[in-house]
Amino acid sequence: MSFWKRTTDCGALRTAHIGQDVVLNGWVARVRDLGGLIFIDVRDRYGITQVVVIPEHNEQVTRTARELGAEYVIAVKGRVRKRESINPSIPTGEIEVLASDLEIISPAELPPFEIVERSEAGEDLRLTYRYLDLRRPDMQRHFIIRNTLYQIAHEYFAEHKFLEVETPVLTKSTPEGARDFLVPSRLHKGKFYALPQSPQLFKQLLMVAGFDRYMQIVKCFRDEDLRADRQPEFTQIDVEMAFITQDDIITLIEGFIARLWKQILNIDLPVPFPRMSFDEALTRYGSDKPDIRFDMTLTTLTDIVRHSEFSVFANAIAAGGVVACLRAKGCADYSRKTLDELTEFAKKYGAKGLAWMKITDEGVTSPIAKFLSEGHVTALQAAVGAQHGDLLLFSAGEYERTYTILGALRNEIARREGILSWVQEQYAPLWVVDFPLLEYSDEEQRYIARHHPFTSPKYEDIPLLDSAPQSARAIAHDLVMNGYEIGGGSVRIYQRAVQERMFELLGISHDEARIKFGFLLDALQYGAPPHGGIALGVDRLVMLLAGTTNIRDVIAFPKTASGLSLMDNCPSEVADKQLIEAGIAVRR
Ligand code: AMO
Ligand code: AMP
Repeated sequence: MSFWKRTTDCGALRTAHIGQDVVLNGWVARVRDLGGLIFIDVRDRYGITQVVVIPEHNEQVTRTARELGAEYVIAVKGRVRKRESINPSIPTGEIEVLASDLEIISPAELPPFEIVERSEAGEDLRLTYRYLDLRRPDMQRHFIIRNTLYQIAHEYFAEHKFLEVETPVLTKSTPEGARDFLVPSRLHKGKFYALPQSPQLFKQLLMVAGFDRYMQIVKCFRDEDLRADRQPEFTQIDVEMAFITQDDIITLIEGFIARLWKQILNIDLPVPFPRMSFDEALTRYGSDKPDIRFDMTLTTLTDIVRHSEFSVFANAIAAGGVVACLRAKGCADYSRKTLDELTEFAKKYGAKGLAWMKITDEGVTSPIAKFLSEGHVTALQAAVGAQHGDLLLFSAGEYERTYTILGALRNEIARREGILSWVQEQYAPLWVVDFPLLEYSDEEQRYIARHHPFTSPKYEDIPLLDSAPQSARAIAHDLVMNGYEIGGGSVRIYQRAVQERMFELLGISHDEARIKFGFLLDALQYGAPPHGGIALGVDRLVMLLAGTTNIRDVIAFPKTASGLSLMDNCPSEVADKQLIEAGIAVRR
């Protein structure tokens, strides 16, 4: 089989080409048969070109044109000419190709949805026919951005002397806080590899090996609950450097992010990016990844209402918790129904209730006003800077949860008030630093590492590991943009004794540490340089650059929220023979 091979693509022709003979290959985006004229829009990755057939001129071509359906693959021979009615919305809009020959290369079934920008088709259908979905120009744009990001990453890190090194995909489990995907070993029945949650330990070992600067664009795998910005397999730009301080990592990454935004969006992000402590992020924005494109900050009222009669507040404070308030400016007109919705929303984040107060011209309305003295009401209004027309929302309880509930409400109210759409085209990068080293897991009844167990405590906090481990801070850094965590990293522990102490704090016994991390502990004894790094979430970066809030829009073949691939139907059962070879019996 042969076909007329293209001489140009569907995005290239301009008025300068008028008079030239060309061949186009592409997909039929649209056919308009006006009787005396037939217009065919031909599409490929580069654009759309209008082809015109004049039935009077060419019977053969006309017959073929009238056979065409959407998404047929065709070849067109013809001459470029000036277009009668210019289409200013596309780059080829001033010309058209007058067809002299038309060939159907490959016919197409009627697609299950239209191949157009901003498809209205349901996502499940799009995922089932992903190859058609990916044919849509807006999807192709996302992957062009993604590709540019890869190119800039290779270029930027090479300029800064980084070596790209591949780390294994069949590994021993690395704790990043999620569940592992396991791969059974055929040769060693009953044993398993784990797919890497990240190359964390390998990159540290590369520093011990003297590679000095490592980077890798790498797939990571985490078996965790999925969300709009989370996939079970995702891509990191993974970075590690030796003989550095935290500032070196931060400066390097700022340069990279600024270059991405400049080259892809032509936006100058001012560097250095602002930094904020974890405590400030939590207590002012109610999140460790605050969206600082808009204000609406929280106020802590614990001291002000400490001696109030309201049992919800008093009990929370007595239990060592806090009381905090979100001032929703101008939202005093929220109906009872809206407030009930907000209460339900808060409950999803663990709220037991949601106390509120409306400040109106008529005075204060609030179901809790009767429990508070006039002095308390005045003092708390002053503390939050309340004005007429405001709605105040209160949360009382355990420190982190209380602020997190208000932080979630902050985002929800910003969405309802349209604030998120006003700030849609702004980008607000932010470093969050000074994280606590540990957090207590009620579920596991032990401390767990907030970042991961290899993160160094702040040097001045090392003595706290013995006296008050919960107060120790980590040399960790998260890069946040517009409410997304787009990167996370830390300076690492490089002394065996400190690493062993850390395992101990995490309730990992000496023996367990040997079995799981013996190779790391050993390596730390053979001349480990001080080192640290970060991993950037490529998918989330591309989401931001492409202006989508759905991570599946920037991954070619993603999984649904329940971890399925609708196109090839995986996960799927395997043949008994495969199970036997892998030494596996399935429990259903
Ligand atoms: P961390 O776990 O913070 O750090 O991951 C780094 C970045 O990867 C992205 N990310 C994800 N993106 C999509 N889907 C997911 N399931 C997902 N999980 C994480 C986020 C996140 O900020 N080894 C450390 C890095 C280090 O310490 O250097 C690590 O993996 O954008
Ligand atoms: P209750 O005493 O449970 O009837 O609650 C009185 C008011 O306080 C109601 O408006 C509840 O929604 C609210 N409320 C209850 N628990 C909390 C809490 N932990 N934080 C904030 N408000 C709460």
